[in-house]
Amino acid sequence: MKTLLLKDSETRSAGKIIKEEGLVVFPTETVYGIGANAFSKNACEKIFIAKGRPQDNPLIVHIYEQNQIYTVAKDFPPKTFDLIEAFWPGPLTLVLPKKETIPDVVTAGLDTVGVRLPNHKTALSFFKEAAVPIAAPSANISGKPSPTTYKMAITAMQGRVNAILDGGDCETGLESTVIAWVQNRHCSNQQGAWTILRPGAVTRDDLYSVLDSYFLHSQENVDQQMLLKSPGTRHPHYKPQAEVRLFTTAQELKNCQEFLNSGWALIALVSEAATKSSIHAERLYLTWKDLARRLYADFSELDEQNVPGILVQCPNEMHGIEEALRNRLLKASAH
Ligand code: TXA
Ligand code: MG
Repeated sequence: MKTLLLKDSETRSAGKIIKEEGLVVFPTETVYGIGANAFSKNACEKIFIAKGRPQDNPLIVHIYEQNQIYTVAKDFPPKTFDLIEAFWPGPLTLVLPKKETIPDVVTAGLDTVGVRLPNHKTALSFFKEAAVPIAAPSANISGKPSPTTYKMAITAMQGRVNAILDGGDCETGLESTVIAWVQNRHCSNQQGAWTILRPGAVTRDDLYSVLDSYFLHSQENVDQQMLLKSPGTRHPHYKPQAEVRLFTTAQELKNCQEFLNSGWALIALVSEAATKSSIHAERLYLTWKDLARRLYADFSELDEQNVPGILVQCPNEMHGIEEALRNRLLKASAH
């Protein structure tokens, strides 16, 4: 398939492709997505082929203004609109009861749909031109890290989609926070509560500022049965070609010196230990946020250099972006 490479100003052409049932890769503040008309079964089926994605993994539906939510979802759980008010546009996906308008292929047969309004000018302009909600997973081949730069998006999807829209580098670098309303035996109240299915840049503390503990499941209470309902959480994910190993403390890094001596790359926070132990190909960051933003791009560049492995510093704390980073790193390093 011939893939058009579009500038960020060419959102009209991108919108036209969606109207003709085609696929467009587009930027968001989190990662690049691969989009199709969310109302079209035929168009959405093509996404699964382009990505090699398992059919049981549902897609997120993207909208450009709040009112569009009524065209895709219904029966809104408590606090839905407080969450929207606080975090949209932004990296928060809400899993909501779906409307009939959304074909089963989008939601993998579930009766819920993930909805998100991203904070990205090019994305929103493209959605407006398309004039329909856009179903879109991350624009990687299934299992690989999500593209966070235009170059990565081209490497992953050229020849598989109709167009790729340039939006430069993604600001967050990790996929959105996904939350769902659940009613189950673990809830401290009768009604139910929101649960984090995938941590992201909208952090647990951010959510607590709107929901308080009555409406947000604590981590320990997450029902494993519930997580099974979000199939994305059980497929292999975020893995570069190179083997990934993690360390947390300076002592652990010291113990891994052998790897670095034999050509492994290092991704870590700036520290005396990191500077001392690295031989070459080190990527050192001042903050976890910076490391998260660049993580997938680093994976991709280091794969191009054919390094045998990548040693990555993993946060110990579960606050802020660290929770999401830890989640992705554990999957990237899983055997
Ligand atoms: O930041 C993002 O969310 C990016 C950009 C493109 O928006 N998209 C993204 O999509 O990461 P994807 O398909 O790679 O991840 C979607 C996640 C999966 O873990 C999936 O299982 C979950 O959201 N999900 C989607 N719809 C769901 C539903 N109805 N119920 C439970 N989980 C759902
Ligand atoms: Mg993905």
